[in-house]
Order: sequence, then C-alpha cells, then structure tokens
Amino acid sequence: MNIILAKSAGFCFGVKRAVETVYKEAEKNQTPIYTFGPIIHNEEVVADLEKKGVQVIHSTDELKGRPKGTVIIRSHGVERKIYDEIKALGFEIVDATCPFVLKIHRLVEQYSREGYHIIIIGNETHPEVEGIKGWSDPAETTVIGTCEEAEKFTLSSEKKVCIVSQTTFNYNKFQELVEIVNEKGYDIIVLNTICNATEERQTEAERIAKEVDAMIVIGGRASSNTQKLFEICKKECENTYYIQTIKDLDLTRLKSTDNVGITAGASTPNNIIEEVQKNVRNEF
Ligand code: F3S
Repeated sequence: MNIILAKSAGFCFGVKRAVETVYKEAEKNQTPIYTFGPIIHNEEVVADLEKKGVQVIHSTDELKGRPKGTVIIRSHGVERKIYDEIKALGFEIVDATCPFVLKIHRLVEQYSREGYHIIIIGNETHPEVEGIKGWSDPAETTVIGTCEEAEKFTLSSEKKVCIVSQTTFNYNKFQELVEIVNEKGYDIIVLNTICNATEERQTEAERIAKEVDAMIVIGGRASSNTQKLFEICKKECENTYYIQTIKDLDLTRLKSTDNVGITAGASTPNNIIEEVQKNVRNEF
C-alpha cells in the first residue's frame, strides 16, 4: 500500500508556537499556569497538559480567588479588555497569540481610532472573531459571515469602512461578501488577513484526495478546520474517514485499497499523525 502524507498536515505555525509556549511554561513549574480557553481544539493535548498542572479557564471571573500565576493567551487571541482584567487581578500574561492575529488586532485598533467603521468577515461566535471585535469601537463594528448579512449592511453616517477577515475564513467566500458590501458605494479599504496555512492545507488535501482510494482526516471533533478538511476530501474521495486518533479507525476498511492519503487539522499533534501512519503501514 502506498501512503501519501500531506506535508501541511497538523499544526500551523501559530498553533505550534502556542503549544510549545505552554509546554515550556509548564516545565518551569513555578507558578500555577492557566490557559485562556483550551490551547488547541484537541482533547488529547489538553488532557496531557492538565496532567502537567495546566488549568483551562474560560473567563477572567474564573481567576478570582485562584492562586496567582501565569495566564497564557492562546493563538486565537483575545479582546483588549481581557489583558487589562488579567493584569488587574494580579496575574502574569504570556501572550501566545499568533502574530498574524495580532496584526489584525493592530490594524483594527488603528483604523477604528481613525474613525473607520470596521467589518470583520468571519464567524461571529468564533473566539478569534470575538477577540478581534474587542480591539475596535463596538458601536462601529459589524461581523459579516453570510451573503444575507452582507446585503443587510448599511451605515447611517458617512463613515469610511475597513474590512478585515478572520484568518481561517474561506477566500472565495470572503471575496463574495466583500463584493456585496462594495456595491453599496461606501468608501472601503479591504485588508485580506486570511492566513495561507489553511488554504495550503485545504488545497493539498483536495489534491491528495483526488489521487487516492481512501483518505484519512485526523483532528478533534470540535475543530472547525478539520471538519472543513473532511468535507473537501469527502467530495473528492468517497472513502474518507474522520478520526480523532488511531482508535477511531477501522483498519479493515482499508483492506482493498492501494493508495491511502492522510491529512490532519491545524490542532492535530505530530505524534497522533505518526501513530496513524505507522499503524496503517504495519497493517498492510
Ligand atoms: Fe496563525 Fe494562520 Fe495558524 S493565523 S494560528 S498560522 S492558521
């Protein structure tokens, strides 16, 4: 059997950096360590970190009354006010926000200060978007994720508009939504802040899925980028399997296949990918 492992499978640069930061802090083992939200959408990694004493908190309220320590901000980033709240409660901050997300925070802050209305193209409930929203004037910020929302968008004043995107948003959809807003005749500046890591992973997965008899997509159930990868692969290859770890894979299903492709979402650690690859290879 021939196995094709996607080069772009697994952690992107920002997630790798954030996970390494937490492990490094945990090794120091000096003060309690908290991550603001799970560091990645991967239950295995979060459980492993928990064993090393890393606790997950979901709001600054949860820090009240807890032993002082370090709060690590994950790659998605957070609102400006969260930094202030953490500091005010007497905790240290280690910022593992992805530099590409930090750049969006800076842009949104700057354009908002210059009086622009900010449009964030993205999913309103995604933590990254919630974070970006917290760097602009809330009264002058709109999140647009669908064509209907783009069509409904109106401004009551003569403001200029600055459009940014959630890093993991689909490029074609972004273009489509920008086009709808553009037709309204506002003075707009469009900043394409989509990160290439996602697109590269998706393009490579699609290419491999076209060539193979079976495709394995590895990633956490709650990871939206893994779900997206699965959809892309399933379209090209009927025998596409979505697994969290090797335990979810029924190897007998791969019996009559010659070529198997493997890819993984942005939050899937290397050891899980290697384990899958090794087991598939050993079986046949
Ligand atoms: Fe950063 Fe792009 Fe990953 S924005 S967290 S490198 S998907």
